[in-house]
Amino acid sequence: MNEQQRNDHHGPTRFLVFSASLRKDSFNTRLAKLAANVIAKNGGEVDYANMSEFDCPSFNQDQESNNFHPPGAEEFRKRILANDAFIISSPEYNGSMPGLIKNAVDWVSRFRPQPFNERHSLLMSASPSMGGGNKALWSLRMPLEHLGSRVFPDMFSLATAHKAFTPEEKLADEVLAQRFEQNLVAFMSLVEAAKNYPCIKKAWVEFLGEKTDPVTERVE
Ligand SMILES: Cc1cc2nc3c(=O)[nH]c(=O)nc-3n(C[C@H](O)[C@H](O)[C@H](O)COP(=O)(O)O)c2cc1C
Repeated sequence: MNEQQRNDHHGPTRFLVFSASLRKDSFNTRLAKLAANVIAKNGGEVDYANMSEFDCPSFNQDQESNNFHPPGAEEFRKRILANDAFIISSPEYNGSMPGLIKNAVDWVSRFRPQPFNERHSLLMSASPSMGGGNKALWSLRMPLEHLGSRVFPDMFSLATAHKAFTPEEKLADEVLAQRFEQNLVAFMSLVEAAKNYPCIKKAWVEFLGEKTDPVTERVE
């Protein structure tokens, strides 16, 4: 789906959601699944992915210059383009993001047009530690912003993740659960506004009886 087709889609706003952990019992996967449920509950469309679908061999520029893109990078790119925004729940490894997500981002950054550019994103993390893996998000922000992604200012980090979930896979702390949902809903509103604003503006200009001028009018 190209940019024009994406902008012409007036259905529900679509969110790619995944966890940057390959671990079977990953806390980040549990948090990503919870985010997917909250989005669906609030009217968004969810495209849930597993990190194994996007996993790539270590980046090697020699391979890349032979126009090779690993299947994980092809899939990651395809899913970014097919959605209006993406949400990553990432572990923190040694005070930073895990290598596998940086590696996947590096591979995908080599496609042209570069798919992260202007795509909205939201970052979250989960860790058994008191910091909740928050440093991973500050590090992950850097390459994504560098690539032009509109990274949402508010991030969510789940501390003591091993004690944070109820048996029904909700957040046990009600105040935290509310903050989690508010953060997601605020992000959804922004993505929806960014997606629909050009159409609304065009409709309003036409309603006023003015002709939109393709030379000066960006909504065209
Ligand atoms: C190599 C490695 C480094 C880690 N470094 C940190 C760290 O810096 N901060 C932290 O909060 N947790 C750290 N952890 C613990 C992870 O937060 C924990 O293993 C967590 O469960 C990983 O996320 P997941 O459950 O989604 O797989 C580290 C774990 C590993 C394997």
